Amino acid sequence: MRIGVIYFSYEGNCRLIAEQINAVVQGDVLALQLEEHKPRKGLAKYVWGGRQVVLNQRPALKPYTFDSTAYDLIIIGTPVWAGSPAPALDAFLEQTRIAGKKLALFCCCAGGKGKVFDKLKKRLPGNTFVGEIAFINPLKQDTEALVSKIRLWIEEIAG
Ligand SMILES: Cc1cc2nc3c(=O)[nH]c(=O)nc-3n(C[C@H](O)[C@H](O)[C@H](O)COP(=O)(O)O)c2cc1C
Repeated sequence: MRIGVIYFSYEGNCRLIAEQINAVVQGDVLALQLEEHKPRKGLAKYVWGGRQVVLNQRPALKPYTFDSTAYDLIIIGTPVWAGSPAPALDAFLEQTRIAGKKLALFCCCAGGKGKVFDKLKKRLPGNTFVGEIAFINPLKQDTEALVSKIRLWIEEIAG
C-alpha cells in the first residue's frame, strides 16, 4: 500500500506525530510550510492564529508538489486552532485536488478538538474516511505510549 502523510505543524506536535506515523508506514511525507514562519508565544500566538481562523484567511505556503494519484491512502494532520483545522491546511486543501481517495485524519490539540474532523471532512468531499485520531499536545506525552497508540491506529486503517 502506498501511503502519503501530509501535515501542518506550527509548534512541532503534528510534526512529531507525522514522523512517528511515517516510521511505521514508510511512506512519503509532505510538511506544509508557511511562506513566513515566525515563532510566536503566548497571547500573540493565539491572537495571530485565532484571527486567521475567524477571518477565514489563507496564509501563503511555501511551494510544494503533491500528486494524490500516487497513493492508496493519504493521512492528513493538523493542529486544532479555535476548534478548526489550521488555515494553512485549508490553504493546501483549496489548492490541491484530493478526491476519490481513502483518507485518515489526525489532529493535535490542547484538549478540545471541537469539530475539527467534521470540518476537515466537509473540506474533502468525494473521499472515503477510514479513521481519525486526536492527540493532546504529544510533545508533552510519554513517547512509548504515543508510539503504541500510533501503531494500533495504523493497523486499524492500513492493516
Ligand atoms: C491559534 C491557536 C489556537 C488554538 N486553539 C485550540 C483549540 O481550539 N483547542 C485546543 O484544544 N487547542 C488549541 N490550540 C492548541 C494547539 O492545537 C495544540 O497546542 C497543538 O498540539 C499544536 O500543534 P502543533 O505543535 O503541531 O502546531 C491552539 C493553538 C493555537 C496556536
